[in-house]
Amino acid sequence: MVRARTRTQEASTTKILKKEVLAPGIKRFELDAPEVARKAKPGQFVVLRIHEQGERIPLTIGDIRAEEGVVVIVFMEVGKTTRQLGTLEQGDEIADFIGPLGRPSEIEDYGTVVCVAGGVGTPEIYPIARALKQAGNKVISILGFRSKDLRMMEEEMKAVSDELIVTTDDGSYGTKGFVTDALKSVIERGEKLDKVFAVGPVIMMKMVSKTTEPHGISTLVSLNPIMVDATGMCGVCRVTVGGEMKLACVDGPEFDGHQVDFDELMTRLKVYLTEEKQSLEAYEQRRTEHQGGCGCCGSKEVKDA
Ligand code: FAD
Ligand code: FES
Ligand code: MG
Repeated sequence: MVRARTRTQEASTTKILKKEVLAPGIKRFELDAPEVARKAKPGQFVVLRIHEQGERIPLTIGDIRAEEGVVVIVFMEVGKTTRQLGTLEQGDEIADFIGPLGRPSEIEDYGTVVCVAGGVGTPEIYPIARALKQAGNKVISILGFRSKDLRMMEEEMKAVSDELIVTTDDGSYGTKGFVTDALKSVIERGEKLDKVFAVGPVIMMKMVSKTTEPHGISTLVSLNPIMVDATGMCGVCRVTVGGEMKLACVDGPEFDGHQVDFDELMTRLKVYLTEEKQSLEAYEQRRTEHQGGCGCCGSKEVKDA
């Protein structure tokens, strides 16, 4: 069965209104996107293409300021396209920008909810935590980073949470350990948890789901499989949930963490590793060749590479 989007979303150009570096290799853009901002809800995502020859990549809507027509994206530079995106500056334009896509997060008054995020999952969970707080929930947020210099958005998350726990893997800030250690402590202190939301690396979402499952705590995770068209047509984003095939772009990206086949997702995310590595090396090579000598670095020629 093909589950394409029910309404056509036209790709449009968007301008970068503000650029910030949140942590090494993690950048935040405020984008001029009134149409997307007007319709977007927490948990949805956009697909963008830097230039006409570029690949399409999905990124979660990190914040929505509908009245100003602003949409925020936060991305980690992991490969060619995200690295290239990171070279764009305030005032630059992104050729294609489509959204909002995917189903919004299930926001309601559950009672006590825990929002768990790892690394760049923090800006992704922020609008979800804020909406949960506005819906009347007691919100406990747990943020995990590898080390102190990689942490981000602590103040913003504090403002929408009743309790905020920050963990670092190396103990350089907050509580030493993983988000799952902090989650176990919250469960063990006897707090009745009605829902857990987890956004971050697949392994983190798997471990969070394993932690909550024996306690019967309903857990939603935001899946990030490779996506191409994001319209439900190509099938690339298929994931197995409760033994059934689902398309993350139209059926998700949020799913019941106790039903997700995380191991299959991890395997599928690595399918194009060789090509991705080659593409990044070729891009970096072209950037190096253009540095200093010919004066056209950052020019259309390199940006479109
Ligand atoms: P590449 O070197 O091409 O790939 C690096 C790794 O990224 C791959 O091994 C693969 O695991 C993954 N990847 C590659 N291409 C895609 C693709 N087309 N779609 C999805 N994953 C891909 N990242 C963020 O930093 N911030 C976000 O807010 C964010 N939100 C996402 C929301 C959704 C719904 C999904 C599906 C992914 C999201 N991602 C987010 C992941 C982001 O799309 C990838 O990091 C990006 O596409 C990598 O592109 P690249 O060319 O830089 O890296
Ligand atoms: Fe193509 Fe989901 S069906 S990305
Ligand atoms: Mg890529």
